[in-house]
Amino acid sequence: MNSENKSVQFHHLCEGSMIGSEAIMIQKAEGAYLWDAQGKRYLDLFSQTWSMPLGHSNEKIIKAVGEQLTRITHLRTAYSTEEKSKLAREIIKLSPVGLNKVNFVLHGSLAVEGAMKLAVNKYENRSKILYLEDGFHGRSLATMGISWKMPGSKYSNYFTNGVEVKKDLGDIEKKIKCENPAAIIIELVQGNAGCKILDKEFVKGVRALCNKYDVVMVVDEVQTAFGCMGKMFLCEDYEVVPDILVFGKAIGGGFPLAGTIYKDEFSFQPGEHSFTFGHSPVSMAAGLAYLEELKPLLKNVNSLSQQIKNPLLGLESKYKNLRGARCIGVKGAIDIVDEFGNPDPKTADLIVLKMLEKGIIIANSKCRHLGNTLMLQLPLIITPAQLQYAFEVLDGILNEIYKISERDKYE
Ligand SMILES: Cc1ncc(COP(=O)(O)O)c(C=O)c1O
Repeated sequence: MNSENKSVQFHHLCEGSMIGSEAIMIQKAEGAYLWDAQGKRYLDLFSQTWSMPLGHSNEKIIKAVGEQLTRITHLRTAYSTEEKSKLAREIIKLSPVGLNKVNFVLHGSLAVEGAMKLAVNKYENRSKILYLEDGFHGRSLATMGISWKMPGSKYSNYFTNGVEVKKDLGDIEKKIKCENPAAIIIELVQGNAGCKILDKEFVKGVRALCNKYDVVMVVDEVQTAFGCMGKMFLCEDYEVVPDILVFGKAIGGGFPLAGTIYKDEFSFQPGEHSFTFGHSPVSMAAGLAYLEELKPLLKNVNSLSQQIKNPLLGLESKYKNLRGARCIGVKGAIDIVDEFGNPDPKTADLIVLKMLEKGIIIANSKCRHLGNTLMLQLPLIITPAQLQYAFEVLDGILNEIYKISERDKYE
């Protein structure tokens, strides 16, 4: 079997790991760059779905992990390490007032499931969870049940306890009254749905309804906590303290780590949310180093935000098929539409592919198969020159696709 056939067989065997295209074989990653097996360099403007905010191979994180590896590689959750207890204390110290307990797991989906269990544990007889339209909370069966759905999913029998609500306080109040839910879960920025930024007054309204009807408010900050918004938690900007906050992605600095932070009134029974590898000492060491490295970089986020927003607005005003440029923290997005103003996922796919060919990684949202939103999530270590280059390449690709005439350009 030649090497080409072997690689085809690998892709065939390793199912479920790719979204749309064949996985690129990466050999090296450093800072904002990846290199593939042929030595081609890629600028990663999606930070591996915001799990590498400090870029790849951050020295302090690698050192902390290396030191940890020489002492302890694995412990079951019943044991602790200095790093784990320091990280727990540090997270609580940084958390909004009133969130005093933390639970660790390895993945955002399991962290959300932890939040679901905590909420259900609070009541005698409530199991329904309300979730917002376009919301995304993971790919385990329980979290798929409280996320946007593909029509006709074969797993729908597992989804019975999730109830979708509109981004409308009237609808939420109605569903609270008729469904008697344990909790409502929201993202403040619906990342997977294409960077849809929730309105502050709406979020405060959800908080007020939760208070009025004694419903647990869960805020899923898997995509927004620990850095990309220029602060530790985005709920600070929304002036809302949830009852349970879910975190993930960034905090591990590239190692698997996620969890929940919650008020004293919530608890798990011993072992109820404990997993064999759930408290990896390696991830704990990485998380602690990540927080130290993150703090001085937070002040860069406002300026980075402008460096995304301005060029996106510029592209929107130049190309009729680009709409709705938006940016929050280091997340930016823009929608691709056809000549009638309808979502155009095929062209969005093409743009992402052409950017990849030119060695720049961006992504498009696949929410409900719409897929027409181009998305960026910059690593905090990106330089203005790297960003300027990326936008020049994007402009060139758009120019080629839409072939704007000189007349259109200056119209
Ligand atoms: C908001 C949100 N919650 C939960 C998850 C699930 O996290 P994980 O993929 O680590 O299970 C994701 C993943 O993208 C997410 O964006």
